[in-house]
Amino acid sequence: MTIRAVLRGTGHYLPARIVPNSEFEATLDTSDEWIVTRTGIQRRHFAAEGETTSMMAAHAARAAIADAGLTADDIDGIILATSTADLTFPSVATMVQAELGMDHGFGFDVQAVCAGFIFALANANAMIQTGQARRLLVIGAETFSRILDFEDRSTCVLFGDGAGAMVLEAQQGDGSSADRGILSTDLHTDGRYREMLYVDGGISTTGTAGKLRMQGNPLFRQAVEKLVSTADAALSKVGLGHDDVDWIVPHQANLRIITATAQRLGVPMEKVVVTVQDHGNTSAASIPLALSVGRADGRLKPGQLVVTEAIGGGLAWGSVVIRL
Ligand code: UT7
Repeated sequence: MTIRAVLRGTGHYLPARIVPNSEFEATLDTSDEWIVTRTGIQRRHFAAEGETTSMMAAHAARAAIADAGLTADDIDGIILATSTADLTFPSVATMVQAELGMDHGFGFDVQAVCAGFIFALANANAMIQTGQARRLLVIGAETFSRILDFEDRSTCVLFGDGAGAMVLEAQQGDGSSADRGILSTDLHTDGRYREMLYVDGGISTTGTAGKLRMQGNPLFRQAVEKLVSTADAALSKVGLGHDDVDWIVPHQANLRIITATAQRLGVPMEKVVVTVQDHGNTSAASIPLALSVGRADGRLKPGQLVVTEAIGGGLAWGSVVIRL
């Protein structure tokens, strides 16, 4: 027998304000046509003034707990992926814990930028499999609009705000790839790629939050190559191949990256959950948002095999194979 971290509920939250591509045409030398053609993005949500990462995370968390048919009392801990925390400290996870009225358990943040939710899931899986927790809330939440340079057309049109959450629960499996739950994880970082995607401020350097800087084109090429290899690695760890995949739920950075990766994995686009047109790149929130949307609209069903994969600043990248 093997303990598996099984998905019990999902939820998400998007801020009310929807920003169409056309809004950028007023202030930048850009066009809806360029943004749609190069990225697939049509609109994104931006947080309202005063709306924080922890507020959005708490909304998504409540939705996931309700979807699981549980209450906050049933949750042992919170692992939250973000690069846009409310404050330098404490962690956003502890703010969500308080917001949910939890006076038990623990919460901590994970920072792996756009791959953050993959790293948070791998942490949660390890804690559940080693008996350190029975039920965990895993959240990805971001307010990237706060670190965008709105004079840089090559980055500010790409990102959005939002939050997604998932409840994982320990259940017994037989150790085979037919089990429900997380079947394998594959994590990587390579700090030599720092310049490709970073924020030009921080606590021990400028004392400011800084703004996002990206070398989009070289990153694009790294992304496809590394996403394919990590998805392949995670599948082969459990003896599964491309034909076993029911769905890819990818990090939503660029439709062209999503399409090229799916093509190289031999998975048709009908089996890929795509939300980038509506959300833009929400960094660590993008995978839990897509999972929640895909479950809510009935595409993702119990028993199906899902591959999630993401890459972002660091570079950090990885993949998780989960049977719903
Ligand atoms: O989530 C973390 C992971 N993120 C990623 O993986 C993002 C990866 N990169 C990308 O998605 C793409 O590289 C971008 C969408 C950022 C850019 O697309 P691209 O096809 O790689 O374009 P490019 O950077 O090669 O730029 C082509 C042209 C340039 O003009 P010139 O030098 O050819 O005259 C840019 O200045 O497009 C120009 N450009 C724009 N034009 C209109 C860049 N941004 C814009 C814009 N509107 N918003």
